Amino acid sequence: NEPIYILGIESSCDDTAAAVILNGRILSNVVASQKIHEEYGGVVPELASRAHQQNIVPVVDQALTKAGISKRQLSAVAFTRGPGLMGALLVGSSFAKSLAMGLDIPLIEVNHMQAHILAHFIEEKNQSKPNFPFIALTISGGHTQIVKVSDYFKMEIIGQTIDDAVGEAFDKSAKILGLPYPGGPLIDQYAQKGNPKAYSFTKPKVGDLDFSFSGLKTAILYFVQNNTKTNPNFIKENMEDICASIQFTIVDYLMDKLKNAVQETGIKEVAIGGGVSANSGIRNALKNAEKNLGWKTHIPKFEYCTDNAAMIAIVGELKYRQKDFSEMNVSSKARMTF
Ligand code: KG4
Ligand code: ZN
Repeated sequence: NEPIYILGIESSCDDTAAAVILNGRILSNVVASQKIHEEYGGVVPELASRAHQQNIVPVVDQALTKAGISKRQLSAVAFTRGPGLMGALLVGSSFAKSLAMGLDIPLIEVNHMQAHILAHFIEEKNQSKPNFPFIALTISGGHTQIVKVSDYFKMEIIGQTIDDAVGEAFDKSAKILGLPYPGGPLIDQYAQKGNPKAYSFTKPKVGDLDFSFSGLKTAILYFVQNNTKTNPNFIKENMEDICASIQFTIVDYLMDKLKNAVQETGIKEVAIGGGVSANSGIRNALKNAEKNLGWKTHIPKFEYCTDNAAMIAIVGELKYRQKDFSEMNVSSKARMTF
């Protein structure tokens, strides 16, 4: 019963993150979010790579210090292999390889999308873990997927976006309303004070478990243009109702798809992850589904929902126990399924 300490490293997008896990429990979870992208209204890949390079050593050092261990106590190093921005992924993988090589311990590659789902298996007080099989909905600025999860590493994507991710839909709508990036949390704040039925936006139509968000963005743009023609202060005067209506449309759309997934698979246990799981609308909708539809739902702690390395570390531990190690010549992958 040796203690298993795994270091997780995440660098797929604009967060440089490192975490240490000991037998299922997170000892430290450090994230350096890159502020630099705010002024550009979205993530600039070249700038992300540079920032990762500056951040990675201090972030890993901090994760080890907070965990109260020395790097020599590590059992293995886990890192995000993909999917993500190539230049960003390369920084994390090169660093992970060097560290594993220097310490002569195993290297473990992790699929970022699997990690979002397996974050539900981090040991937390007062949090029950999902039972297999369950349906996972991963919603963030980069992803929108419905996955049937039969076992830790037995997952099947049964629905996904054909264009923008749901977080992008929030952020792009916010931009149209003149809100700063990332606007998702701001839409949520205004929405809580507004009338969700004030305006209606038609829900995009695609395959029964797939999503499309690009049409919604265009609809909102025209809606705003038309209304500001007659009243230049239209947005300012109606911000709360506009945000509530946009959020209602998006959440209702997500729930429609989830209901289809539950009906088609017969699985009533649903786990959500990704930054958009912070949204109050989706949280309430899931609570209602527990009450009214008999679902069992799971939402992890927020710091395990957004991009983080704790989720990379838990996958590292699960793979370590199976002795599922990577070769030193493993290459980063921008696109990756399960
Ligand atoms: O998982 P995440 O931190 O990063 C990735 O994109 O992978 O997710 C960030 C996304 C952004 O699009 C942000 O606007 C959205 O999650 N988001 C929200 C809320 N909090 C974060 N969207 C709606 N409501 C929120 N409360
Ligand atoms: Zn992510």
